[in-house]
Amino acid sequence: MRVDLLAGSRHAMPAALLRRPPVILLFDSGLGGLTVLAEVARARPDADIVYAADDAAFPYGRFSEESLSTRVVAVMARLVERFSPDLVVIACNTASTLVLPALRARFAIPFVGTVPAIKPAVAASRSGLVSVLATPGTVARDYTRSLVETYAEGCEVTLVGATGLAAIAEAALRGEPVSDAAIAAEIAPCFVARDGRRTDAVALACTHYPLLVERLRRLAPWPVAWIDPAPAIARRILQLIGPPTERPDAPEATAVFTGEAPSGATRIALAGRGLARVESEPFPLGV
Ligand code: DGL
Repeated sequence: MRVDLLAGSRHAMPAALLRRPPVILLFDSGLGGLTVLAEVARARPDADIVYAADDAAFPYGRFSEESLSTRVVAVMARLVERFSPDLVVIACNTASTLVLPALRARFAIPFVGTVPAIKPAVAASRSGLVSVLATPGTVARDYTRSLVETYAEGCEVTLVGATGLAAIAEAALRGEPVSDAAIAAEIAPCFVARDGRRTDAVALACTHYPLLVERLRRLAPWPVAWIDPAPAIARRILQLIGPPTERPDAPEATAVFTGEAPSGATRIALAGRGLARVESEPFPLGV
């Protein structure tokens, strides 16, 4: 897994030297970042967590690069002002592959991004056929293309832009019925068979997709390694801010939504992930 690293030494000081537990802000377009949250909370159980979902703009995969960049920087400005995070995790490939340089230029906070795990997928492959399952936005990025050029090492990398899989993952989390056929159709292009060889590693390059990993395994036409970036992101956070420290009180965890704060099954799913406090920070599209 390649985690996009902190750029520039002026950001390299902070949270480890704080006299208080860090505030870590995780940001995604929706609920996909929850797959990263679990690993982050395991690595730094002492941190105060803010999980921010820009659900008013979900899904990010359909945005033009210019409007997505403008949107993410604007929403981040609001979140930084409100929560003063010590470190931000962009738990979204679609945003990370585009907006990290703009965020780092604008805010003097360390940003950890999530970008397609092409290098580890190539390392895991024996057949030389690797696929990257992502949003159409991530697949179209120059950044993603250049990761393929840099790390393919003779492997044939198939980029698959799934148009509906992030929304399917959210629907499944809400407890809505999602047919096997719909999921199977989204992942089908990942499975390539050629000259007696078959795809054997698939990078999950959208943080929503690990929400469905059990169904992906069951519906795959043949077994493959599904590469989830979350553990590598947690390791990178520990490199930046060090191991957990003792704290006398319980850490806080808040989920904040730019659209309507969720109810029903989603609230239960959030609470099950330690996010019992749910707030709204309205940021409609077009603001
Ligand atoms: N979770 C996101 C990602 O990692 C994006 C899903 C979307 O908003 O399209 O790419």
